[in-house]
Amino acid sequence: MINRITSLPEYLEKYQESITNPEDFWADIAKENFWRKKWDKILEWRFDGPDAPQVKWFEGGKLNITENIFERNMFQRKNQVAIIWEPNDPKEKEVRLTYGELFDKVKQFANSLKKLGIEKGDRVAIYLPMIPELAIAMLACARIGAVHSIVFAGFSAIALADRINDSSCKIVITSDGAYRGTKSIPLKAIVDESLENCPSVKNAIVFKRTGEDISFIEGRDIWWHDLIEGVSSFNDAEVMDSEDTLFILYTSGSTGKPKGVLHTTAGYMIFSEYTFKNVFQYNNGDIYWCTADIGWVTGHSYIVYGPLLTGATSIMFEGVPTWPDAGRFWEIVDKYKVNQFYTAPTAIRALIAQGNEWVTKHNLSSLTVLGTVGEPINEEAWTWYHDIVGGGRCPIVDTWWQTETSGIMISPLAGITPTKPSFATLPLPGIQPILVSPEGEELKGNGVEGILCIKYPWPGMLRTTYGDHKRCFETYFSAFKGLYLTGDGAKRDEDGYYRIIGRIDDVINVSGHRIGTAEVEDAINQHPKVNESAVVAYPHEIKGSGIYAYVICDKLSESETESIEDEIRSTVVKHIGSIAKPDQIQVVPGLPKTRSGKIMRRILRKIGEGDATNLGDTSTLLDPGVVEEIIAGAKVDVKR
Ligand code: WTA
Repeated sequence: MINRITSLPEYLEKYQESITNPEDFWADIAKENFWRKKWDKILEWRFDGPDAPQVKWFEGGKLNITENIFERNMFQRKNQVAIIWEPNDPKEKEVRLTYGELFDKVKQFANSLKKLGIEKGDRVAIYLPMIPELAIAMLACARIGAVHSIVFAGFSAIALADRINDSSCKIVITSDGAYRGTKSIPLKAIVDESLENCPSVKNAIVFKRTGEDISFIEGRDIWWHDLIEGVSSFNDAEVMDSEDTLFILYTSGSTGKPKGVLHTTAGYMIFSEYTFKNVFQYNNGDIYWCTADIGWVTGHSYIVYGPLLTGATSIMFEGVPTWPDAGRFWEIVDKYKVNQFYTAPTAIRALIAQGNEWVTKHNLSSLTVLGTVGEPINEEAWTWYHDIVGGGRCPIVDTWWQTETSGIMISPLAGITPTKPSFATLPLPGIQPILVSPEGEELKGNGVEGILCIKYPWPGMLRTTYGDHKRCFETYFSAFKGLYLTGDGAKRDEDGYYRIIGRIDDVINVSGHRIGTAEVEDAINQHPKVNESAVVAYPHEIKGSGIYAYVICDKLSESETESIEDEIRSTVVKHIGSIAKPDQIQVVPGLPKTRSGKIMRRILRKIGEGDATNLGDTSTLLDPGVVEEIIAGAKVDVKR
C-alpha cells in the first residue's frame, strides 16, 4: 500500500526525514492524492505574531475530498463494501453499502442540499444517530463545499442551539428518533426545542428512523425521503481550495462556551488518510471497526474520512456495548470477522467489570490490531485488552490526539513499534512534540515530565476557532511563544517513549468525553437555589474521571435538601446533556477562596481524590475553616 511504513527501521528513517525536511515529506505523500490543480506552495506558517496562528498547507491546490474517496478509485472499488452498518437491535438486518452505492447516495443527497439552496461555505448542522445517513450527510456537505458541524446526538436542546447559533447554520439534519440500547431518544423533539432560538435555520431535514410520532412545521421541516425523491445522482464535486473549510467541530476548553475547531480540506485529508493506514496497518480487504460516535472527532477521522480515503471497509455501530448483553462488541467482531478494532479505555474498563466469559465465548481470532483513544489507559485495562480480547496476539495502539489535531499524533504503528502498557510511545512521522516546564523552558533529553506542546505544524492541525481567531491564539498559542499547547501533561521515559498523564487545565475527561468545568459550573448555576459552584475531576473506576461538584446554595428546607442533588443533575442534563451530569454533588457552606476571590481548585481536587494529608499552603485562604467543613461533608472517604 502506498505511503504505508512496514518496518521499524523504515519508521525511524521516515521520522528523521520528516523533521529534517517536513515540506518534502508531506508533499511526497500528497502527490498520491487526486488534485484538480496541484499546489503552488507546500507550507506557510507562523505560530506567533500578528493574526497568529497562520498555517497554510498546499496553498493554491484545488481538490475535493470526496473525489479522493470516490472518483480516485472507483474503478477498483466500486463493488467493495465501504460501510457496514450494524443496527442497535441485533434482530434488525445490517446494511452494507459498497463504494458505488455510497457514492450515488452522497451525490443524490448533495443535489438535494443544493435544491434547498445550500451553497459552498454554508454551515450545516448534523444531529443524527449512528446511521448510514450520518456519513452520507457529511460527505454530501463535503461534496458541495458546505461546512458540516456535527453535534453529538446526546447533547441537549440548549447545547445544540448554542452550537447552531455560534456558526449560524442554515439547516439542521436530524431524525425522528434514535435507538440506544433499550432507550428511544426523541431527537426531532429536541431539535424543535432548539430551533425556537435559532433564527439562522431555514430548514430541518428529518430522516425516518424510529417511526415515532413527531411534530412537523410546514415549510420548515422536510422528510429526508421526500427531499431525495426523483433527485439525480449525477453531481460534479465543488472544486475547493486546499485551505477552504471542510468542517467545524465544537469542543470544550478551560473557559467559556465550547469552541468551533475548524479544519480545512487538503491538510485534513492527507493527515487522516496517512495516520489511519500507518497506525492501524490496514491491508486491502481488512474489516475495520471503530466504536466511537461520529459526533466526536474520532468518528470523523477514523470511521469516515481516514478509512474511506484508504478504501477500507468501515463498520458503523448504532448501539451500545452492553445491550442486549455485555458480549455485544465481541459478537459483532465475530459476525463480521473484524481485523482492526478501535475503542476507548472507558469501554474496556466497563467490560472488564462484566467478566471474561462475555469475551471468551466469542471467536475473536480475526482480530489483528487493537486500538484505544480518548484518555489514558491504565495498565490493568491495557493488559486485559491485550490478553483477554487480543489473546496476547494483537499489538495495542494507544493513540494520543485531540479534536484540534484532527488525527493521531503519538502512537505505535501496529506491529512495528514495540509497545509498553499505558505508553502512547513515539510520535508519528511529521509530528514534533516537545515537553516544557511551567515556565516554558524546554525539557531536553529523556526521563523528563512536563507540559506537552507541538513545535512544528502538521497538515491536520486546526486553523482557527470559528468566528473568533483571537480565541484560538489565546487558547493554544499564547502560553508558550511559538508552541502549540495541547493542554496535556506527559512524561518521556528513558527510551524516549511518551506517556500521557492527563489534562493540566480545567478540562475533565469523562469516559473519554471532553467536558469543561466552566461549562458545567455555568449549567449548575442556572438552578435557582444555587449561588455558586466549583467543579473538579475526581478518580472514577470506570469513567477514568468523574465530575465532582461543590455547590453553595440558598438556605434549603428539609425537602429541598433531599431533592437538590437530583434537581442539579436535571439542570445540567437540560443545559448540556447527560454526559456532563455530576457524579458527586456536595452542598458546601463556602468554597476555599484566596483573599483576591480566586477558588483554590487544587484543594477541591485533593479532597475529591480522598486525600487531605497534604493540602499544601492554605495560609492565603480567606477562610481556612471552610476546608475542614468541606472535608467533613465530603462524598468520598477522605484521608486526613
Ligand atoms: C485525551 C479525542 C491519554 C487527552 C481524540 C486529549 C488521551 C483529549 C489519549 C482530547 C490517549 C486522547 N492517552 N489521553 N491515548 N487520547 N486523550 O478532543 O487529554 O475529544 O487532550 O479528542 O483526550 O480529546 P478529544
